[in-house]
Amino acid sequence: MAVILGIESSCDETAVAVIDGAAPTLEQRIVAQRIASQDEAHRPYGGVVPEIAARAHVEVIAPMVAATLADAGIRLDNVDAIAATAGPGLIGGVMVGLVTGKALAMAAGKPLLAINHLEGHALSPRLADPALLYPYLLLLVSGGHCQILEVRALGEYRRLATTIDDALGEAFDKTAKILGLGYPGGPAVERLARAGNDRAVPLPRPLLGTAEPHFSFAGLKSAVMRAHQAGLHSQEDLAASFQRAAIDCVVDRTRRAFALCGPVTALVVAGGVAANAAVRSALQTLAAEFDLSLVAPPPALCTDNAAMIGWAGAERFAMGYSDSLDVAARPRWPLDAGAMPVRGAGVKA
Ligand code: KG4
Ligand code: ZN
Repeated sequence: MAVILGIESSCDETAVAVIDGAAPTLEQRIVAQRIASQDEAHRPYGGVVPEIAARAHVEVIAPMVAATLADAGIRLDNVDAIAATAGPGLIGGVMVGLVTGKALAMAAGKPLLAINHLEGHALSPRLADPALLYPYLLLLVSGGHCQILEVRALGEYRRLATTIDDALGEAFDKTAKILGLGYPGGPAVERLARAGNDRAVPLPRPLLGTAEPHFSFAGLKSAVMRAHQAGLHSQEDLAASFQRAAIDCVVDRTRRAFALCGPVTALVVAGGVAANAAVRSALQTLAAEFDLSLVAPPPALCTDNAAMIGWAGAERFAMGYSDSLDVAARPRWPLDAGAMPVRGAGVKA
């Protein structure tokens, strides 16, 4: 496998990485990587502001490419291809990274790989451990996405479930906002939950037990809001009870997905929420029910990063794929284009 320059800018992280797909260990596969978080810029607004995000990407991306190549001790000439996220995501940000990738590809005369951000998350466990074989069942849970996919092979994804309202990470973020914990809220809710009683606050488990393994978290978030306003429970108990309810939903939905998918080699969890230790531990128990192990990339590879984009590029490059320099940035880009729309699902950014 090849040496790939990866670029990610679809949300609020500007990230650049150099990946050596053939290297034997994870440390060596990620030759260099830099991530510039925009958390500070968005914090006053309690969420990501697309305009601010796009401008912040523009300000840092070119120097970050130069610095990451320098960290790797190589020049642009030394990479085999350039992989940039082409969607889905906030369109302004996606365009900044994709245009940068195109310009570099053109200047250096290297192939361009336009990467689906979700494919980056979906393949990130193979970056962590290439011994993970297709097909695997993937729970992809981040701030913007909440899906269960059967990953059959590179580029072959069957979507078994999606959310009809909020993504799981979004539910964590909104709960954090209700509890006054600031943005991004997932890690703060997890920290607080450790000190709370997860049975203290009765909360709903939306869609639990339904035949199709879809998710819904809007009602849970509203219930947290009402419980918080009632003022009867501690922040810790609210956080713990929310996290317990959310995890109960995730486990039930994933168990249901197992019934709908073909034979798989592992249960894999990826995306920002996969950094949550309680989520991981519940999924480990679930995987054991099916005599499988849970594979979860290290937390730093679960949240948005460019190493996963470079890795997806390496897998695509190895299969002989490349993209035209006039490929368009896509705000929406499902991994499984054939998936049926879900009744009740709203349009989400
Ligand atoms: O994958 P990611 O970095 O960005 C998206 O593509 O959305 O995921 C970020 C999301 C946020 O909603 C954040 O609150 C959540 O992942 N997250 C967590 C934890 N760490 C990050 N949620 C729960 N527990 C955590 N430890
Ligand atoms: Zn992401």
